[in-house]
Amino acid sequence: MSSIQEEIKKRRTFGIISHPDAGKTTLTEKLLLYGGAIQEAGAVKSNKVKKGATSDFMEIERQRGISVATSVMGFEYRSKKINILDTPGHQDFAEDTYRTLTAVDSVIVVIDVAKGVEAQTEKLVEVCRMRDTPIIVFINKLDREGKDAYDLLDEIEQKLGLTVCPLSWPIGMGQDFKGIYNLWEQNLQLYTEQKKQKIAQSIKIEGLDDPAIDQYIGQEYATELREDFELVDGVYPEFNRESYLKGQLSPVFFGSALNNFGVQELLNCFVEIAPEPLPKAAEQRLVKPAETVFSGFVFKIHANMDPKHRDRLAFLKIVSGKFERNTAYRHTRINKDLRFSNPTAFMASKKSVVDEAFPGDIVGLHDTGNFRIGDTLTSGEQLEFKGIPSFSPEHFRFINNADPMKAKQLNKGIDQLMDEGVAQLFTLENNGRKIIGTVGALQYEVIQYRLEHEYGAKCTYENYQAYKACWVESNNEEQLAEFRRLKSRYLARDKFDRLVFLADSSFSLNMAREKFDQLKFHLKSEF
Ligand code: G4P
Repeated sequence: MSSIQEEIKKRRTFGIISHPDAGKTTLTEKLLLYGGAIQEAGAVKSNKVKKGATSDFMEIERQRGISVATSVMGFEYRSKKINILDTPGHQDFAEDTYRTLTAVDSVIVVIDVAKGVEAQTEKLVEVCRMRDTPIIVFINKLDREGKDAYDLLDEIEQKLGLTVCPLSWPIGMGQDFKGIYNLWEQNLQLYTEQKKQKIAQSIKIEGLDDPAIDQYIGQEYATELREDFELVDGVYPEFNRESYLKGQLSPVFFGSALNNFGVQELLNCFVEIAPEPLPKAAEQRLVKPAETVFSGFVFKIHANMDPKHRDRLAFLKIVSGKFERNTAYRHTRINKDLRFSNPTAFMASKKSVVDEAFPGDIVGLHDTGNFRIGDTLTSGEQLEFKGIPSFSPEHFRFINNADPMKAKQLNKGIDQLMDEGVAQLFTLENNGRKIIGTVGALQYEVIQYRLEHEYGAKCTYENYQAYKACWVESNNEEQLAEFRRLKSRYLARDKFDRLVFLADSSFSLNMAREKFDQLKFHLKSEF
């Protein structure tokens, strides 16, 4: 049996992020095909909530089912064990994606060549940059007309704040797309058509002066490629793995996921450069993967699809040591030992019971209501992993009980849905009223539907005027007391009993910032 160190060295756990429709699902599928994890295209279902599905709850339920199946997709490639963590595409579920990003060791960002950097990509990359997550960029849909490569790289640098270094370069585009020059492996990928099928042909070359380039793509394109490269050489830094691993340099690849073009080149580079499981900070200390004692944290909770059994699946990322089935582990928040008889591992979209798992792996644990997002499990040490922040919601509404006989059920339902991270709960300090904050309006309908179907409780909503939720940090008791006195109507507690200021407008937030200069108002719960 191999040692924990060897297992760690094999693991690559990452996420693919993009704006909806850039090609995340298609790319995931092609990667799984290379890993032999699936045999045919179309096997990975998109987890998108289709447009117009807002009131179609069957659709939402169906999507929930799919998203369990595709939460983690594992496969092997060149003797590496790769785990892709799925991130929801729909922006209303962005909070889910932020949390999943705490469990990845690196990311691939997919950008549509025609659309360039889009809003959702900006937000997600910002979250990655907060943690210095290593980022590889894949520019997709080169078979279509799109933006000029230089303009795109500029846009990526400016909008995403990344320093880029192209490791491949497109030759032509759209109708005239000839292929890709791959710097990483020093070859030419030709994009050709055979029997109406687009296929890739790989030609080994000896650098840019190789006359084979002229032979395959013609002199005109060859000259253009050489000229492009002189510029690339002058403008962009050389690839340096250390900088990439620190999140300071992002290699860029070009291709077309749909046509399976440039995908294997991306994967070949990824397995060589992407980081193995990284150490993670706990409140108490930094925990290293190679430590022999086990530790891990819950980054996602999924309610079971069967409403009659209210058990849930908690997704645990293993940080250190070896996880073993039927072994007692300490749930450090509630100080209770738990044992798992059926931990689940994920290979492609299949689940299976596992006896052991290693750092970088994700296991699914059946849970009857013990877990909350961010919880830590260890061999006994009292650790709490840091770093699952909540962000200020965009929408706020009071939640009211619509059936007085079912108050208990409603409270339990709200509690558990918040544990799952469906939305955030704020309780007003002055009157105890409950406010639900969400990223998108869709969640209110999901919550109402699930409260009724899973908990037998009914709720109504009422508008609550708030601009942002700000977590308050104070180094000055006097100012804090004054702030509390003046703003008592706007103060609430989050689920962890932290003080939150529900600013009703950007003006009032700015005023508070000016007047109470010894207090800090954070738009996320981690600071
Ligand atoms: P997402 O998960 O990021 O939301 O994107 P997804 O992979 O579902 O791709 C969005 C659309 O873009 C799909 O078309 C897909 O076929 C197309 N696509 C992906 N990669 C490429 C590419 O390299 N070139 C071209 N031309 N198109 C690409 P759709 O019509 O919306 O869906 P479908 O009916 O084809 O599934």
